[in-house]
Amino acid sequence: MRKPMIAGNWKMNHGISDTISFIKEFKANFNNKNNADIVIAPPFISLESAIRETKNTEIKIAAQNAYYKPNGAFTGEVSFEMLKEIGVNIVILGHSERRGIFGEINELINLKVLRALELGFQPILCVGEKLEEREGGITEKIINMQIEKCFSKVKAEDIPKVIIAYEPIWAIGTGKNAEPSDAETVCSLIRETITALYDASLAEQVRILYGGSVKPANINGYMSLHNVDGALVGGASLKPDSFKEIVNY
Ligand code: PGA
Repeated sequence: MRKPMIAGNWKMNHGISDTISFIKEFKANFNNKNNADIVIAPPFISLESAIRETKNTEIKIAAQNAYYKPNGAFTGEVSFEMLKEIGVNIVILGHSERRGIFGEINELINLKVLRALELGFQPILCVGEKLEEREGGITEKIINMQIEKCFSKVKAEDIPKVIIAYEPIWAIGTGKNAEPSDAETVCSLIRETITALYDASLAEQVRILYGGSVKPANINGYMSLHNVDGALVGGASLKPDSFKEIVNY
């Protein structure tokens, strides 16, 4: 039985004071009736405050990115070691905004995944196709390629720690969420790909999240799917009330 995960990706929203007020309000009145892993990924600057505010709660704090080198001349970057020092051990990697806006390629994301696992992080690896790729009938090919490249040299023993977020790019921030049946098709394909690369029992342990315009009104449609184990939520995770409704799907 895979534990559900509901993760809020705040992107470049909520500085320190907004983070503190969100968490104060959220933790006072959410109930984790599904016994899910509840994760919030604030911007780097807000991580320490978020960790302080969520102490002794069920809420886990994740980073939205990290660089694979421990230190050095990498202006603007933050290492996994630095995140570990403040108590972060979950990290979102390969988000489509990192890929599309900041030019991250699968080979770089792979180095980040390897480093994350080496240091005991749980990576949430994002994959997803563009609209023209879906319309061109190559969704399966694109997702397979992303998984194969991003998991290159990942050891079998690390596979159960990995979380994969299927986020069709055309569904992110657009309000046009994928049909649950389409999400199930791709998420089951992801599990087949992991089976082919490793084996079926490892693939059964990997948690797969759906992301892309998830909101209180559509979360139940995803959480009832066999191969979807949770959600990566952007816009609807920014307000305590709507995130609470999603968590309590
Ligand atoms: P959205 O973003 O929920 O605002 O579509 C999801 C994501 O980018 O993780």
